Amino acid sequence: MTNEELYKTIFTRRSVRKYNMTPLTAQQLKEIKDFADNAKPLIPDIKCEFSFLTDDKVKNILPIKAPHYILIYSEKKEGYLLNAGFMLQQVDLFLSSVNLGSCWLGMAKPSKEVPTLQNGLEFVIMLAFGNTQEKIHRADTSEFKRKGISEITSINGANQLLEAARLAPSASNSQPWYFSGDPNEIIISREKLSLLKAPIYNKMNQIDTGIALCHLWLSIEHQGKTACFDYTNSNTPKGYEFMLKVKVEGDTSC
Ligand SMILES: Cc1cc2nc3c(=O)[nH]c(=O)nc-3n(C[C@H](O)[C@H](O)[C@H](O)COP(=O)(O)O)c2cc1C
Repeated sequence: MTNEELYKTIFTRRSVRKYNMTPLTAQQLKEIKDFADNAKPLIPDIKCEFSFLTDDKVKNILPIKAPHYILIYSEKKEGYLLNAGFMLQQVDLFLSSVNLGSCWLGMAKPSKEVPTLQNGLEFVIMLAFGNTQEKIHRADTSEFKRKGISEITSINGANQLLEAARLAPSASNSQPWYFSGDPNEIIISREKLSLLKAPIYNKMNQIDTGIALCHLWLSIEHQGKTACFDYTNSNTPKGYEFMLKVKVEGDTSC
């Protein structure tokens, strides 16, 4: 699977919430595992691992049942939620590109009999996946319910680059991201949360931003450029919190 194939999937993917409960073949599961194990990390020194569970080992308060779930476990270091969103979104795009349904599940947890730590790493979030009778792909981008480009950026001249990030999925479709700076140095921030919303969305917001960043990285690669990530603080618009900067370089190294 090439990054270009993942990029194309951004424009048609959708969440699938009804699954055919027949398990996938061992070969299909192996291909998904191999892909996940080779996903690009955003922050390479954060240790993470993927694991797979079946429905009997997953607790979800929402009535979504799937034959398989892929879980990301991580070290709890600065930026780990951003990194988890960035990595697991590559898997979400991969699943859609091989015609499998998938859905991020922010409320689901491994059941009690599953050990809380995996090789010392903590559970972060999971995706449900499997075959489905539902539509896996949207016909075109008019079928996405998303904010307009002017609501998520103040940058002139980067609409095409940012379109992929605009279409990213987020918890409750909240789309908490904002892009400022200029087309060569994009500052990414996330909405500051009220005290009421913070307990639920503080974690999800950071995962969401990692997902949008994954789409932005694929978009930069699609344009034949390289994304270099920089964590030195920059000014952000009022009401937003700085996450990171993406330098868009013309050559292949950062
Ligand atoms: C971090 C995260 C958590 C999510 N949690 C849930 C969930 O618990 N249940 C659910 O039905 N959808 C969940 N979603 C899916 C979103 O509702 C969905 O991505 C969003 O509404 C946009 O729709 P789309 O994915 O079809 O484009 C989650 C998405 C993200 C990114």
